[in-house]
Amino acid sequence: IPVDPFDLVIFGATGDLSTRKILPGLYRRDLAGQLPEAARIVGAARSAFDDEAWRAEVAQAIADHVPAERIEPEARDRFLARLSYVRLDATGADGWDILAARMRPDVVQAYYFSVGPGLFGALAERLHRHGMNREGCRIVVEKPFGHDLASARALNATLAAHFDEHQIYRIDHYLGKETVQNLMAVRFGNMLFEPLWNAQYVDHIQITVAETVGVAGRGGYYDKSGAMRDMVQNHMMQLLCLIAMEPPYAFEPDAVRDEKVKVIRALDPVEPADIVRGQYSAGNGHVSYLDDAEKSESLTESFIALKAHVSNWRWKGTPFYLRTGKRLRARTSEIAITFKDPPHSIFGEQEGQKSNVLVIRLQPNEGIKLKVTIKEPGPGGMRLIEVPLDMSFAEALGPGAADIADAYERLIMDVIRGNQTLFMRGDEVEAAWAWTDPIVAAAEARGDRPRRYDPGSSGPEDALMLMHRDGRRWREIRA
Ligand code: BG6
Repeated sequence: IPVDPFDLVIFGATGDLSTRKILPGLYRRDLAGQLPEAARIVGAARSAFDDEAWRAEVAQAIADHVPAERIEPEARDRFLARLSYVRLDATGADGWDILAARMRPDVVQAYYFSVGPGLFGALAERLHRHGMNREGCRIVVEKPFGHDLASARALNATLAAHFDEHQIYRIDHYLGKETVQNLMAVRFGNMLFEPLWNAQYVDHIQITVAETVGVAGRGGYYDKSGAMRDMVQNHMMQLLCLIAMEPPYAFEPDAVRDEKVKVIRALDPVEPADIVRGQYSAGNGHVSYLDDAEKSESLTESFIALKAHVSNWRWKGTPFYLRTGKRLRARTSEIAITFKDPPHSIFGEQEGQKSNVLVIRLQPNEGIKLKVTIKEPGPGGMRLIEVPLDMSFAEALGPGAADIADAYERLIMDVIRGNQTLFMRGDEVEAAWAWTDPIVAAAEARGDRPRRYDPGSSGPEDALMLMHRDGRRWREIRA
């Protein structure tokens, strides 16, 4: 379904995110027929481009980031014709009048701040000064949304000086992933799972976001951030919220976000003994974290595993184990919900009888798998085995599923539609920092040295212990 006509301004249009994700994603939406005739995109940045030169850059970005079979010259040229460029100084006066004159009053107006948070205030203030913060316009901001609670509060206050909360779209791109939304569909669109979705029936939950990449090229940012701030405070927190939250009364922005905030507030502080931090060493042809971060010494973690507790009626007693890291064995993101064993086995002790596990796989090979116990086929008596009920989206949904929209393109379309359901509200981000800050501060105060781990491994040995000592095991990290 096409969205309404819009003017979308991308500040930082020549930057990495814009080139890799935003513009190729918008092209794909255009290809899919979702951009109306009157949709326009304005690139705004400091580089000295004119419209033609910027279009050539974007054509290259499309060539680099969209699979060749999805590039149709006619659609691409139609897309490029929507683009124009304004040379603009975010902190100065240049370019702002030109930009203001380019905005059409009768279409949706959206401003994507694809720049560092240090520029959010300057952009918001200038949009205001040049009369562009009209009722109904939207601004889109990226992570990192603050570095801690105090800075997140300051950012919220800066934006709130010129925009209402309903105009602010804080992106967490994990919320735009197909399977993340499917998680809600599975929970709230079926009768099967929800009655069991609580501490009485769920033994524990594991959330893993493993990556094979290191931090080369962004060591400066990463070293000040670490896995806790870079991944746990935002992406993993969002996954945890969607699993743990109560059913919202409707799939509407504030209904969903109210429930997520309640989960974050119910999170207990995490004990130091329940946290394992790691840093990758050199190996397998890769340099170490310290080399990637261009530091001889750093206590920043490139891996973290922790045990969290949601202290509320539904979840008291069911641990949530979270783990994320760079340079691990495989790139995989998944949520696994392990159910408790039946109270009594009528088949006696049997090796083949395993706990039910519901695995929600975000990437790669998006899908949902439920492990169940059945009888081994054949005349060998009542021997139990575990089999997966497997739903790979690619298999179940056919060729269309192979072209699942990227998180960014989905979220940008939601901005144009004016739907904030998949965006973080200010209080939600602050609550997440309020939980994160003491964890980071305690590790810093103790001067904790992260444990070394080999590239291509599952992280430091101690992370295994975090579960072993509870009589549980991490799932294997594999693609
Ligand atoms: C980003 C982090 O937000 O998410 C990166 O800053 C990380 O460090 C990335 O690599 C992971 O995103 P995805 O979509 O590739 O899982």
